[in-house]
Amino acid sequence: MEAKSLWVLLTTLLFIIQGWRQTEGCLEQERIALFQLKSFFNRLYKLENWADVKGSNCCQWERVECNITSKRVIGLDLYFTRYWDNRERRSDLSGYLNVSLFLPFEELKSLNLSENNIADLVDNQVSLSSVFNNLEILVLSGNNFNDSVLSKLKSLTKLKTLDLSDNRIISLRHFEGEKVQPMMNLEVLDLSGNLLKNNDLTYLKGLSSLKSLNIGGNQLEGSIDIRVLNNLTKLKLLDLSDNKIESLQSSHDGERPLNVTNFEELYLDSNSFTNSLLAQLNGFSNLKSLSIRGNQLNGSINIKGRIT
Ligand SMILES: *[C@@H]1O[C@H](CO)[C@@H](O)[C@H](O)[C@H]1NC(C)=O
Ligand SMILES: *[C@@H]1O[C@H](CO)[C@@H](O)[C@H](O)[C@H]1NC(C)=O
Ligand SMILES: *[C@@H]1O[C@H](CO)[C@@H](O)[C@H](O)[C@H]1NC(C)=O
Ligand SMILES: *[C@@H]1O[C@H](CO)[C@@H](O)[C@H](O)[C@H]1NC(C)=O
Ligand SMILES: *[C@@H]1O[C@H](CO)[C@@H](O)[C@H](O)[C@H]1NC(C)=O
Ligand SMILES: *[C@@H]1O[C@H](CO)[C@@H](O)[C@H](O)[C@H]1NC(C)=O
Ligand SMILES: *[C@@H]1O[C@H](CO)[C@@H](O)[C@H](O)[C@H]1NC(C)=O
Repeated sequence: MEAKSLWVLLTTLLFIIQGWRQTEGCLEQERIALFQLKSFFNRLYKLENWADVKGSNCCQWERVECNITSKRVIGLDLYFTRYWDNRERRSDLSGYLNVSLFLPFEELKSLNLSENNIADLVDNQVSLSSVFNNLEILVLSGNNFNDSVLSKLKSLTKLKTLDLSDNRIISLRHFEGEKVQPMMNLEVLDLSGNLLKNNDLTYLKGLSSLKSLNIGGNQLEGSIDIRVLNNLTKLKLLDLSDNKIESLQSSHDGERPLNVTNFEELYLDSNSFTNSLLAQLNGFSNLKSLSIRGNQLNGSINIKGRIT
């Protein structure tokens, strides 16, 4: 047989085998990698149908989402799948997740790791950005992450949604200090239930695509200068509930005017705002939803001419 036709035959065969394998189910290397994740995400009665059986279609496994065309894993919902015992809890230990485990999932777009008692993402073998280079949604809520995770997450430039709620973050200073602005594409950021203070707002000014920001349930107090959010020209939703805020710095003090014309939803529940709040909202000209339950407003309030 001529070398050329042999080559044609071989490549045709290869295509047939590849096509057959793809219609069969998920990629074998992804199935094996999923099964390896089970040693970390080891809670009883979770991930039960994740089987160590060659050829098992992992796209049909619980909490796994595949692209129907490419058959690649694009979503993993590992919410509350890791077991930790009381000893771990008592001694303040937590899990260290080796991100190398995710390397085979080249098309992973969405990952939910919430409620797993994880303290850090270990990335000394491979960088976080090379492992999660297609990730758009990352949910890390209800773990033990502290500030140090921020400098790693900053490298995930395709991220659109980041949920860090209910962790142990005390400062956002790691978001700052780079020439290249971090997380340029981030649209939704949830930092609720951490330990942030007033000055942490300034570290958010580089997140120029941000549309929704939740800093509820932190340690903001007294007077808040939200003019530091002026650069976030796309911001539509701001949640500052469950803090100890008494006032928002109003538009006429200071040099830079407050520019909040894009704000549509503002949540200020469970703070210490008084009747003067409505005057401070002067300028929120496109507000569609305002929630101010559980504050210290009383008596009669003059709304006329305030919010237009
Ligand atoms: C699925 O994969 C195909 C082929 O790789 C790609 O064109 C498409 O955009 C992917 N769809 C999703 C939803 O990821
Ligand atoms: C992380 O996983 C990789 C690949 O399995 C392994 O080579 C490496 O030793 C692990 N790193 C740590 C810190 O466990
Ligand atoms: C985990 O996060 C993903 C992505 O946001 C979401 O679709 C899923 O509902 C979440 N799972 C739980 C149990 O909250
Ligand atoms: C933050 O978490 C990392 C990883 O668990 C740990 O090494 C570090 O000591 C923690 N830093 C603080 C300030 O608690
Ligand atoms: C914020 O906006 C001001 C002017 O509006 C600009 O000078 C500054 O560079 C911006 N900062 C960032 C971090 O984008
Ligand atoms: C306020 O923001 C809007 C929308 O980003 C912009 O068009 C307008 O020029 C800004 N106004 C001031 C006074 O900076
Ligand atoms: C309303 O609040 C003001 C200031 O906080 C206080 O002096 C006043 O007694 C309050 N009035 C009522 C009716 O609670």
